[in-house]
Amino acid sequence: MQRTRIKQLLATTPTNQTIVVKGWVRTFRNNQFIALNDGSTNNNIQIVVDFANTPEALLKRITTGACISVTGTLIASQGKGQSVEVVATALDILGDSDAEKFPLQPKKHSLEFLREIAHLRFRTNTFGAIFRVRNALAFAVHQFFQQKNFVYMHTPIITSNDAEGAGEMFHVTNFDIKNPPLDEHGAIDYKQDFFGKPTNLTVSGQLEGELAAMAFGDIYTFGPTFRAENSNTTRHLAEFWMIEPEMAFADLNDNMDLAEDMLKYVIKYALDTCTEDIEFLSNRLLEEEKQKPQNERSELTLLEKLNFCLTNNFERITYTQAIDILKESPHNKKKKFQYLVNEWGVDLQSEHERYLVEKHFKKPVILTDYPKNIKAFYMRQNDDGTTVRAMDILFPGIGEIVGGSQREERYDLLTKRMTEMNIPLHELDWYLDTRRFGTCPHAGFGLGFERLVLFVSGMTNIRDVIPFPRTPKNCEF
Ligand code: 4AD
Ligand code: MG
Repeated sequence: MQRTRIKQLLATTPTNQTIVVKGWVRTFRNNQFIALNDGSTNNNIQIVVDFANTPEALLKRITTGACISVTGTLIASQGKGQSVEVVATALDILGDSDAEKFPLQPKKHSLEFLREIAHLRFRTNTFGAIFRVRNALAFAVHQFFQQKNFVYMHTPIITSNDAEGAGEMFHVTNFDIKNPPLDEHGAIDYKQDFFGKPTNLTVSGQLEGELAAMAFGDIYTFGPTFRAENSNTTRHLAEFWMIEPEMAFADLNDNMDLAEDMLKYVIKYALDTCTEDIEFLSNRLLEEEKQKPQNERSELTLLEKLNFCLTNNFERITYTQAIDILKESPHNKKKKFQYLVNEWGVDLQSEHERYLVEKHFKKPVILTDYPKNIKAFYMRQNDDGTTVRAMDILFPGIGEIVGGSQREERYDLLTKRMTEMNIPLHELDWYLDTRRFGTCPHAGFGLGFERLVLFVSGMTNIRDVIPFPRTPKNCEF
């Protein structure tokens, strides 16, 4: 007989039908009641064991963490807390779990502790909810773009370019690093390396995405990206997933519309399909915030915050307007920022981004037209000669969730900018071909997928929304 998933069983009208259910024991009470979970939902199904007629040796093996298979009758539950339960007629232990050694006890564990046992944390309610929400969001991203006829493009993971020009790359080599071959000048001879030149893990699929957009019109990528930035924060990973759409025949306004529509679409999809999990996470956050002083608690619950995002237009202002707001803010005047905002041209710190979103506008904000000196080479230059057609979307509790721009489609201006920024033209000759052969106005953005999951799950550390986080000095599992 096929097993039925617990989520489905809990929604079934009981008529004494025989069913098979398989899963992992959460608790076993009074030698009689098993709370069984199979990951389809956070709700456990109760299995009632006829302990008088079950061998003592078998009862002893029903421990927290053990994997069991139960054949039984689905009946209306006598007890409170559940509508149905299963009266076991046969029970098999598929995998024993030594109760003394199993690290997950039926009690509350700290997120820090669970990070150390990330291989087992899937089996907790919190991480069950988070990773079902993550799954729904990933599916919704594809659905959103597919409905709009964007072509999903797989851009390479190993590349020889630094798309962002920030130099935060992990190098890829199969040299013996203790003894690499040297050229006649004593430098490492990459001609002898696997690819015959220096290569790295991609920091972004954008440049290759632009090539495809110049043929398909609208494309998107959704894949892993890697950054060797040494930022040990709650918002940065060394390996994260990014979604990068690129649209031909589009300007920055089209780009902002697409990003806002996409974010609203995927958040709504998660709310509609993971209602129970998001309610669970919303309550979890409320509990967590009770530990904080009143003035540090969020004004909105997670559910309210998500709905608020759906019903409000994102505020769209320029970088220059944002600097004026920040400079004049009581926060700046009372020197409450760690980095005071004194002049136009500075890069915004996450404290500034969060001030704009959480204190000033109290809704998501899209900042546009940043100084060219703090942005990448490929962004379209404005006529003022100092700013570029960039946009960053800032979210409450997160800061930057999306970064994008209209691209510089004019060959002369692009190559001039690359030269100013010391980017060798010959290395990106293939990229410049798009500007030589049928260039057109185009735009795109990158959404950091874990930052999205962070926002929708209400978690506060990015290490808790990716199964196995990679951060400085940490690459377990
Ligand atoms: O702003 P970024 O660096 O933009 C790009 O990579 C462009 N090529 C995107 C494009 O226009 N196609 O990164 C985009 C987003 C950020 O807004 C942030 O959400 C996320 O990627 N991100 C990170 N997420 C987790 N850990 C990190 N270290 C991240 N760095 C960027
Ligand atoms: Mg950025």
